[in-house]
Amino acid sequence: MRMYDLILKKRNGEELSREEIDYFIENYTKGTIPDYQASAFIMAVFFQGMNRRETADLTVAMVKSGDVLDLSKIEGIKVDKHSTGGVGDTTTLVLAPMVASLGIPVAKMSGRGLGHTGGTIDKLESFKGFSVDMPEEKFIDNVNKIKMALVSQTGELAPADKKLYSLRDVTATVDNVSLIASSVMSKKIAAGADAIVLDVKVGDGAFMKTSEAALELANEMVGIGKSVGRNTVAVISDMDQPLGFAIGNALEVEEAINTLKGTGPKDLLELCLVLGSNMVVLAEKAKTLEEARAMLAEVIESGKALNKLKEFVAAQGGDASCIDDSGKLPKAKYVIPVVVDKDGYVRKINAQRIGLIAMELGAGRATKESVIDLSVGIVLNKKRGDEVKKGDIIAYVHSSSEEKGKKASEDILNNYVIESKYENNIPLIYNIVR
Ligand code: URA
Ligand code: CA
Repeated sequence: MRMYDLILKKRNGEELSREEIDYFIENYTKGTIPDYQASAFIMAVFFQGMNRRETADLTVAMVKSGDVLDLSKIEGIKVDKHSTGGVGDTTTLVLAPMVASLGIPVAKMSGRGLGHTGGTIDKLESFKGFSVDMPEEKFIDNVNKIKMALVSQTGELAPADKKLYSLRDVTATVDNVSLIASSVMSKKIAAGADAIVLDVKVGDGAFMKTSEAALELANEMVGIGKSVGRNTVAVISDMDQPLGFAIGNALEVEEAINTLKGTGPKDLLELCLVLGSNMVVLAEKAKTLEEARAMLAEVIESGKALNKLKEFVAAQGGDASCIDDSGKLPKAKYVIPVVVDKDGYVRKINAQRIGLIAMELGAGRATKESVIDLSVGIVLNKKRGDEVKKGDIIAYVHSSSEEKGKKASEDILNNYVIESKYENNIPLIYNIVR
């Protein structure tokens, strides 16, 4: 087999066999297929697409490129959750303690942020001393003891995805249904969960810009899950504006803590209740979504979920006293208000641009080597549908430099669309695919 022929075949819109897909993944992982051929190949996939069978074969080939975690030593049904990536998306920090406090094991593999989207591990490092480095035995032991542990995606899990994802990131080939579906599902399958809840984001700040594309991606991933015997549910949710108010690592940690205390943003809590109730039902701890939702509401009300976060942070070496005293979290030197210059309603907040502005402030990585500043970011004060009057503060910039902060403040203002009338027709939850 020659890589040249595979590129030509896909370029001409033909279907690839399982052997051909295996050949590509195996040899690209090994390094015997160079990046330039892989780039041409994935660009051909981007334009010509892959059918369901090819996508499923690509997923399985990527799972086989590395280890598959054995979580059988963890008691109970393990349910994992994955988001396709958004701006200010703090769900894991809220959702994982909620679910774990019901006795459901959460053995989570998370990533760091790249580009305009954030990553859970970076956020957690806002707790001084917090570490995701631990041997597999300790990880399993922690899940058995406190029902919750979190590690980073190691090089041994779906290494083909790790390599391909970096290549896609720099070759404008991220936003393709087959490539995203195989990337997400190969990682989740390798991470060993019994059941998977996916949060498929749609809108300006997501890879999928339309609800049709998001639905296609959701169907594709649920289908792949089914074909490998992992019960999978996909929730399609809004990412046309950032989730909650905070964007930036320590700021999002504070937002997550507030949500667990019952004083957080409504959209973040609602999304966690929807994703969470699906996790609870898949874990067979409740028969219906309504029952599951009531259980989750109770662990917030009673403070059990907040206590679970404390237990979890302490178990991984972090300073959990920040949870009661948020003044101890990293704080930026400057807090600069963004003041609106006209009356009207917020019609739109360009989520992707807001994510990039936060990244430029230092909250995210422009390249894989960038060092992030945990304290900086943006806190929105007005969201879609809110009425504003000239002179109102619509957001705050948290910055380590006054100059950068002022520039960010101007950029944010330019990315709020204010109009005289507004009717909200964008739902938080579009659809749920089972
Ligand atoms: N998240 C992933 O893990 N992979 C993608 O391709 C896109 C989002
Ligand atoms: Ca947020």
